[in-house]
Amino acid sequence: GIGEARPISETPAVVDIGEAGKGKPIGQEGGRPKIAGSDADGPIPEIPMVDLGEADQEKLTKAIHLASREWGIFQVVNHGIPVDLIRRLQQAGREFFELPREEKEAYAKPPNYPGVEGYGTQVRSDLQGKKSWVDHLFHKIWPPASVNYRFWPKNPAYYREVNEEYAGYIRQVADKLFRSLSLGLGVEENALKEALGGEELQYNLKINYYPQCPQPDLMTFGVVAHTDLSSLTILVPNEVPGLQVLKDGRWIDAEHIPNALIIHIGDQIEILSNGKYRSVVHRTTVNKEKVRMSWPVFLEPPMDLMVGPLPQLVDENNPPKYKTKKFQDYMYCKLNKLPQ
Ligand code: SIN
Ligand code: FE2
Repeated sequence: GIGEARPISETPAVVDIGEAGKGKPIGQEGGRPKIAGSDADGPIPEIPMVDLGEADQEKLTKAIHLASREWGIFQVVNHGIPVDLIRRLQQAGREFFELPREEKEAYAKPPNYPGVEGYGTQVRSDLQGKKSWVDHLFHKIWPPASVNYRFWPKNPAYYREVNEEYAGYIRQVADKLFRSLSLGLGVEENALKEALGGEELQYNLKINYYPQCPQPDLMTFGVVAHTDLSSLTILVPNEVPGLQVLKDGRWIDAEHIPNALIIHIGDQIEILSNGKYRSVVHRTTVNKEKVRMSWPVFLEPPMDLMVGPLPQLVDENNPPKYKTKKFQDYMYCKLNKLPQ
């Protein structure tokens, strides 16, 4: 049966920095959220869409500010990444995951290697009681000093070139987002990026591969509800729907917008903004017929960087809502489900 084949490199959810913190999701304390699609509480709202090509900075700032304050997630179009590059990024990732398992296992995190990089699987292990149904590959794509090509697939051969090209574009998207988010908070345009380490900001790419699930009723979720530990997550989905976000007590399906990127506000922006922007609670469903994939890039500060509410946003009337401590300490508490 399904529960018998144990993967060699089963990776427990707790080392997954990108989607750490599978404790009690915020916003769910008041009982079970209603499922998406129920409209008893009015029309079902849609995840906001932002035109990143908007030349009027004030308009762009306002759109991103509102989406980040009210939702903590938005989709962006006109982001400047060529459609063909995104298609090749997806193709390269898909070809890697379709390799025989032994070949993928060569990229598993070696024992005692620090960090989270490498291939891992939470699929086909013990279906009963398991909460996740997803394989993944994790590796850094920027800055160059952080990249370890040991975790970059050599097959397909064009994997490296595509991912390096993608890293260049994603940095431009990130800069644009940080600038608008900063301006939306009323602080200097470089404030957020600088507070996250500036050029030391880490770009961690993850590929999620959710195979067809033979018994979706037993499994329920690809990834259970969580917020991202990152500052921002910039995600490319494939065309198979499955992402849901919690909004005002309801689970809302992310609509597939061809060639759009999905931007999640993560914990570190919630902290820096002293709660003005909310890190979004989200989860993914599984599909019986189709393989779902996604390519999130988690933008994270260096491990030893101190993170706390921006001093410019804190005063007598606005006391800090979060501690100031090293990013790695925020990470440790989240992974171990300790109070922040
Ligand atoms: C995640 O948030 O961990 C996965 C998101 C996705 O696959 O869309
Ligand atoms: Fe996530």
